[in-house]
Amino acid sequence: MISEFQHPDLQVCVLAAGKGKRMRSNKPKVLHKVLGRAMIDYVLHTVESLRPKGIAVVTGHASEMVQAHVGKPRNLEWVIQDKQLGTGHAVRQCEEVISDVRDVLIVCGDTPLLRSETLAKLVAEHRERDAVVTVLTAEVDDPSGYGRIVRDSAGKVTEIIEEKDATDVQRLIREVSSGIYCVRHDVLFDLLHKIGNHNMQEEYYLPDIVPLALKDGRSVETVCMEDAAEMMGVNDRVQLSRVEDRMQANIIRDWQERGVTIEKPETVRIEATVSIGLDTIIQAGCYLIGSTRIGDECRVGPYAVLVNAWLDDQVEVFAFSHIHSANVAMETKIGPFARLRPGAQLDEEVRVGNFVEIKNSVVGRGSKVNHLSYIGDTEMGADCNIGAGTITCNYDGANKHKTMIGDRVFVGSDTKLIAPVEIKSDATVGAGSIITKKVESGGLTLSERPDQRHVSHWQRPRKKSR
Ligand code: UD1
Ligand code: CA
Repeated sequence: MISEFQHPDLQVCVLAAGKGKRMRSNKPKVLHKVLGRAMIDYVLHTVESLRPKGIAVVTGHASEMVQAHVGKPRNLEWVIQDKQLGTGHAVRQCEEVISDVRDVLIVCGDTPLLRSETLAKLVAEHRERDAVVTVLTAEVDDPSGYGRIVRDSAGKVTEIIEEKDATDVQRLIREVSSGIYCVRHDVLFDLLHKIGNHNMQEEYYLPDIVPLALKDGRSVETVCMEDAAEMMGVNDRVQLSRVEDRMQANIIRDWQERGVTIEKPETVRIEATVSIGLDTIIQAGCYLIGSTRIGDECRVGPYAVLVNAWLDDQVEVFAFSHIHSANVAMETKIGPFARLRPGAQLDEEVRVGNFVEIKNSVVGRGSKVNHLSYIGDTEMGADCNIGAGTITCNYDGANKHKTMIGDRVFVGSDTKLIAPVEIKSDATVGAGSIITKKVESGGLTLSERPDQRHVSHWQRPRKKSR
C-alpha cells in the first residue's frame, strides 16, 4: 500500500528564479535565512517528505549560488530560467525534465512555513475530486500583495487576479492564492503555452491557467488552508521578520512539547538548527544559534548567547555569557559574564567564572578559572586552581605559543605565564609572578617581588571641608 507520504506519480516544481527585488539584496531571495536556515532548505525538506517521483527547482537569478548551496540531492533536477518572465514562464521551463506522472505540484521557494501535511492534503483532495487544476488558497485578514481568488455567484472560482491588476472591489477579497497548485500533467503544458503577458507586470502569470482551464471546460477546484499563516510569503524584509516570528513560535512550542522549559519565550531566539535536551531550562533573552546542542537538565541564561556551542548534560551557563564553537562537558558551570571562544574545551565539573575568556584551550576535569583571566592556546590538566587575573601571554606579535599546565596546579592571582611555557603537575606559583621558564613539580615558584616600604609621615590629601 502506498502511504499518504509516498507520491511516485507526482512531480514537484519549486519556483526559485526570481531576484527578489523587494528584498534589496545581493543574495538571491531563497538563500535568505529564516532562523538560521535558508528559505529554500525548508521548502525542499517539505516537498521531499512527500516522496515525489522528482523535484525540479527553477533558478535564474544567481542560480550558481542557489545550486552551490543546495548541492545535488538524488531526484532533484535544476532547471534554468534565463529571464524571469513570470511564474507561468518559470513552470514552462520544466517541460523537458518532467517524465510520466499523473500530477505536477507547483510550490514557491519563498514560503518556508509550508507543511508537508498541507501539501499532501492538497494532492489528496485534487485526486479525490478528479480536478484538473487545484489551487491552495487561504482566508487572510490582510490580503495585500497576494493574488485574489475571484468567484462567480455560484461560488465557483473564475480567476486569480494579481493585486497590481485588481480593481478596488477585487482588492477587498480576503481569499488569496498561496501560489501553490496541483495540476494534471497531461494538460499543464498545453495551458502554459496559451498564457499571455497582457498585465500590469508584463509577466506570464501561472494563475492564468485557471481561466484557461475553465474555458476548455476543465474542472478547477480550490482547497482552503486551515492555518493561513503557513502560506506567508517572503517578498521583503518586513515579511521576512514576520515569517521568522511565526517560525520561532512554532519552534518554541515544539521544544516545550518535548520537555524544555522556556522562560519568557517571546524574548529568546532558538534557530531551527539547534537541539535541546529534556528538562533543560532556557531563561529570558537567550540566543541559541547555528549547530548549538544542549544536553539534558541544563540551565542557560538569562541573556546568554550560544553559537555552535555543544553542551553536555547538567551544564549551567549563567547570565550574559557568550559561547562560540566551544565544547562543554557535564556539570560544568560558566559565567556570569564568561566568554568561550572557538576551540575552548571544558571537561567535566569545570568552573569558569566572571570576566574569563578562554580560547583554543583544554581545561581538565574539575579545574577552576574563576575570575578575570585570559586562557589561550593552553592545555590544562585536572583539578587546577587558576587565580584571579591570570593571563596566558600566548602571542608575541607574530606567533601564538602554547602553555602547558599539569594536574593539581595552583596559580596565584595576577600571574603572567609567558608562552611557550610549562607548569608541571602539583606545582604552586606565587601571586604576581611572571613565569618565563618551566615550573617544576611541587614546592613554590615565584618571581622576584619588589620591596615593600612603609612611609610613616605621609599624609593622604584631604578634600577641603565645606
Ligand atoms: C505569487 C503569485 C500570487 C500568490 C503569491 C503567493 C503569480 C503571478 N503570483 O505572487 O498569486 O498570491 O505568489 O505567495 O504567480 N519566480 C520565478 N520566475 C519568475 C518569477 C517568479 O521562478 O519569472 C519565482 C520566485 O522566485 C518566487 C515565486 O516564483 O519564489 C513567486 O514569485 P513572486 O515574485 O514572489 O510572486 P508574488 O508576487 O509573491
Ligand atoms: Ca512571493
